[in-house]
Amino acid sequence: MPDFAKSALLLSLLLTTSGAHAASAPEMNPTALANAHGIAHPAVIAHRGASFDAPESTAASYTLARDLGADYLEMDLQRSKDGVLFALHDNSLLRTTDVAKKFPERKDSPASAFTLAELKTLDAGSWFNQAYPDRARPAYVGLPILTLDEIIDIAQGNPQHKPGLYIETKEPGQFPGIEHDLKNKLSERGWLAPPAPASTGTAPQPGEGKGRVILQTFEKNSLTLLQKEMPDTPKILLLWVGAGAIAPDSNVSFADSGEKDKAAYYAKLHPKDNAEFLQWLDFAKANGAIGTGPSAALTHGGDQSYFDLIQPWMNKATHDKGMLVHVYTLDEPVDFKKAMDAGVDGIFTNRTSELLKFYQRPAAQTVSQLLEKNGY
Ligand code: G3P
Ligand code: CA
Repeated sequence: MPDFAKSALLLSLLLTTSGAHAASAPEMNPTALANAHGIAHPAVIAHRGASFDAPESTAASYTLARDLGADYLEMDLQRSKDGVLFALHDNSLLRTTDVAKKFPERKDSPASAFTLAELKTLDAGSWFNQAYPDRARPAYVGLPILTLDEIIDIAQGNPQHKPGLYIETKEPGQFPGIEHDLKNKLSERGWLAPPAPASTGTAPQPGEGKGRVILQTFEKNSLTLLQKEMPDTPKILLLWVGAGAIAPDSNVSFADSGEKDKAAYYAKLHPKDNAEFLQWLDFAKANGAIGTGPSAALTHGGDQSYFDLIQPWMNKATHDKGMLVHVYTLDEPVDFKKAMDAGVDGIFTNRTSELLKFYQRPAAQTVSQLLEKNGY
């Protein structure tokens, strides 16, 4: 019996109720726990796709992550004015599209104030060429925003490697009912159906097993709603320090802190005490999460360097509660090593190719070869 099947059998014996939330198995080691949920361990989570090498959340980025061999395609889910689910990280379209040129009078409006037809007129690729000239490609010009349906098509599009989907309800307070809409779409596309039994001795690909979808959110209320809508789908509660999240040990604002940048400011903020952190773990567990998604402080700073919520005691406490740890968002080997040494179970990365190398699962082809093969 493959390890995956053994762990699944063990977990099924330990669970007292059905559903992903019932992983009350602190005695299982994290590898066995991940295997039992059908989640790769350690997991390679392609943050907005392979977004270091191609414009985030576009077909170039997601097809590259898929073909490199990422376990999951990560996305931030929003809903258009006419009710279509699509992927975009920011609330506004300004940073990653030409909305200021196409819709100058509405450039500051939230993306959700645009219909899908309007969103599809936008160029979500050219900004990348301007921001990163050393990684620019002419074919990135004009890349469109993608719907969830289109990202599902990409996830299913390479018979040699089928990644799973790692879907965040982004600012869910703006989108009442998005958890229900998401369930309907995943169900319609067959991503919530029980997976087909694997052939003897063959572990399912990440996008085929029972861990093929992971749902993630920063919002407690959205976690509760996701659990209500999709009780059998693995869920991760994302962790943050600040208003509406883990209470910090200092209330000094960035402006008053004297720190030179946000990364330095965040690095000095911590949960106000251990009990505060543990309360968030307890909430996650009690509301169906199979793990947490903490932030990390990056060695070289930058705009994705946040609070250090992957201290070894934090990861151990999470494991002791029978949950996994998927840290966001790391791109450099020095940070991959620190995080793995601290005990995390998977990493969100903008650099899928680098993380796969670090895990000694290098892609067969280079980033450039795959981009060219995919028409970029
Ligand atoms: O979803 C995990 C990670 O992506 C959280 O950060 O802001 O990039 O969505 P953000
Ligand atoms: Ca995200």
